[in-house]
Parts: sequence; C-alpha cells; structure tokens
Amino acid sequence: MKIGVFDSGIGGLSIVNAIIAGIPDIEVDFKNDAENLPYGTKTPDELFALIKPIFQEFIDDGCRVIVIACNTVSTTLIERLRKTFTIPMVGLEPMVKPAADMTKSRVITVCATPTTLGSERYKYLKDRYANDIEVIEPDCSEWAALIENNQMNNQKIIDAIEPSLKKGSDVIVLGCTHYHWIEDSIRAIVGDRAAVIQPETAVVRQLNRVIERLG
Ligand code: DGL
Repeated sequence: MKIGVFDSGIGGLSIVNAIIAGIPDIEVDFKNDAENLPYGTKTPDELFALIKPIFQEFIDDGCRVIVIACNTVSTTLIERLRKTFTIPMVGLEPMVKPAADMTKSRVITVCATPTTLGSERYKYLKDRYANDIEVIEPDCSEWAALIENNQMNNQKIIDAIEPSLKKGSDVIVLGCTHYHWIEDSIRAIVGDRAAVIQPETAVVRQLNRVIERLG
C-alpha cells in the first residue's frame, strides 16, 4: 500500500521512520514544503493555499491515505482538507489528553508552534481534557526553523523548559514533529523531573487501523 506523508520539513521524517519501522511492506511518499517553512507562524488560509496542490499530488501519485505529520496543519486544517479531498487522512495533535491522564502535579507543558497553540482544536483539547490543570506553553516559536537548519542548541531548550519544570510540570508534550529530533536532548535536560511524550506510536497505530479498513 502506498501512503503519503506530509510536513513542512524534516519533522515529518521522524513520522516516516516510525511508519516504516512499524508497518512492513508500506510504501511511503514523503512530501514537504521546506521553501515555505516555518508553517507554525502562518495563518490557516495561507497554509491551505500552500497545501492544496501538494495533497492533490499525493492523490495523483496513487497514495491511498495521507498522514498529516504536522501538528500545525492537523490542528488548523484537517476538517477543511477532509471536505476538499475524499482520501482518508490521519492527523496528529498535541497529546493533551494523555498528558492530563499522566500528570500527578496537575501542571503540564505543551511545546508547539504559535499557530497550533492558537487553533480552535487545541483550545478544545485544553477545555475538554485539561480544564483543571495548569498548561504551560513556552515560547518555541523559533524552534522548527532552527531544527530544520541544524541550529538548535541546549541553551534554547533550557530557557524554554526550565521555568516550566520549576513550576512543577511533570509532563512535557512535544506538539510539533520537528521537536521529535531534539527529544533525546530534551530528555537529557529534563532527567527524571518530567515525562516527555510524542505521538509516533499512536500515529502508527491509527494508520494501521485505517489501512485495515481500506482492505
Ligand atoms: N512540524 C510542524 C508541526 O508539527 C511545524 C513546523 C513548522 O513550523 O513549519 O507543527
């Protein structure tokens, strides 16, 4: 089965690796839009105009499912994309519910792009699952572009995360696929003070379900 995977840039490759490791015999067509990165500071309308032709290409290339390996696009546009294209889509979004289930301190941290944090879907997730929990959203607005250009460093992680840890946050949600590439550095800095979570396993599980349904 051939599937499409989309992200603005290298964030999506972390999802591609997880899919290839988890689903034997899958053919992955990965497309990105590095020319227009970062996506995380663009409006939903700007993103839709960029994405529409790329999604059409996936369909023209014979993909049967599209994995939107980008929290920014999933949280702002998945409904609109589903109305525009009939192909099944798997999206991913910040793991607010799992974090709310895990936290003992009742303080969690969500690292995500400004567009994700400003989306209706993210607000819904917080209202639904974390309304009695403190949710800290550090400024990670430059991270995706820095990671894409291999310019990220530990001090930037410390500056963003340490204040959350000092406030007692015991779960850190990686709500942008680019951040998967610095997961090990984040874990090394956080140590045993907090859990660090991201959705690769859940995405592969959901993709498997969609593939099974397609037969
Ligand atoms: N990797 C994308 C995400 O998961 C966004 C990166 C960007 O800002 O372009 O949100």
